[in-house]
Amino acid sequence: MSTSLSEHHVVVTRPVPGPAQSWLDDRANVQVLEEGVAADRSRLAEAISEADGALVLVTERIDEEVLAAAKRLKVVANMAVGYDNIDVAAATRAGVVVTNTPDVLTETSADLTLALLLATARRVVEGDRFLRERRWERWAPLLLAGQDVYGRTLGIAGLGRIGRAVARRAVLGFGMKLIYWGRSDVPEIERELGAERVGRDELFERSDFLSLHLALNDETRHFVSSRELGLMREDSILINTARGPIVDEAALVSALEAGQIWGAGLDVFEEEPSVTEALLPMKNVVLLPHIGSASVATRERMAKLAAENIVAVLSGQSPLNPVNPEVLLT
Ligand code: GLV
Repeated sequence: MSTSLSEHHVVVTRPVPGPAQSWLDDRANVQVLEEGVAADRSRLAEAISEADGALVLVTERIDEEVLAAAKRLKVVANMAVGYDNIDVAAATRAGVVVTNTPDVLTETSADLTLALLLATARRVVEGDRFLRERRWERWAPLLLAGQDVYGRTLGIAGLGRIGRAVARRAVLGFGMKLIYWGRSDVPEIERELGAERVGRDELFERSDFLSLHLALNDETRHFVSSRELGLMREDSILINTARGPIVDEAALVSALEAGQIWGAGLDVFEEEPSVTEALLPMKNVVLLPHIGSASVATRERMAKLAAENIVAVLSGQSPLNPVNPEVLLT
């Protein structure tokens, strides 16, 4: 006997924006957890234990324990492109499809990366604060003087979708020179933007601005640590809009304190929502609360795409964005 989709139970771990919610309501039996519930590990596991599908956010850690408690789970749709919050290997073993939301957030995330780069280089946030504190007495030649962006060298670690979108803005919009480090050659970007692929150490040594666009995994954890920061130039700026643990935050604080690098723009942190206390008073850092893809339209698109991935799996179709497609073959 075939089951209709509305008999499928889908847990949405926190309220999501836009039409995704009602779209999903029309197709499944949806339970949206109230804010705060998913932060409690046992309540999260309990809610998911009876679900066929779960739409989760980056704040939820879907690990072996949560997956082991799930009796009928077929799909976990992450409303994010990164999925380091999910133990994909454990999900694969449990026969659970994991999906993410690439593409719909690429340009929005690249915009924010450039905003952070410009804000850090030109001391935009510091200037705003200075003015609001009524400390501006007169124009002065070196008042809030920062770093040039135009014509400088941008190093990108990880020339994937978002890295490329950042690269295009930087080269075509700001006349920057582009070097990159990554697992493979990207000849089309070398042709299009005159990019040069460099070795790992050379990336740190030559970048005036270094922007991280790597996925977080065991290989990229602390990709930027004291040794790498020691290779960077004193007038260089580190930008991280990828994942916090890619940078050793304690080592970054030491490098900033020692003047080993000029500044940093950070949208992500090792232990979100905590931020290393020593960063807070620093004038040469710009700190944002993980808002890379946070335009209203993009967040709505991400929620809808996550919902579509769930419905596809529960109706026996291929999801648009599986990260462990091998599950679908079994
Ligand atoms: C957000 O951080 C994402 O991975 O989409």
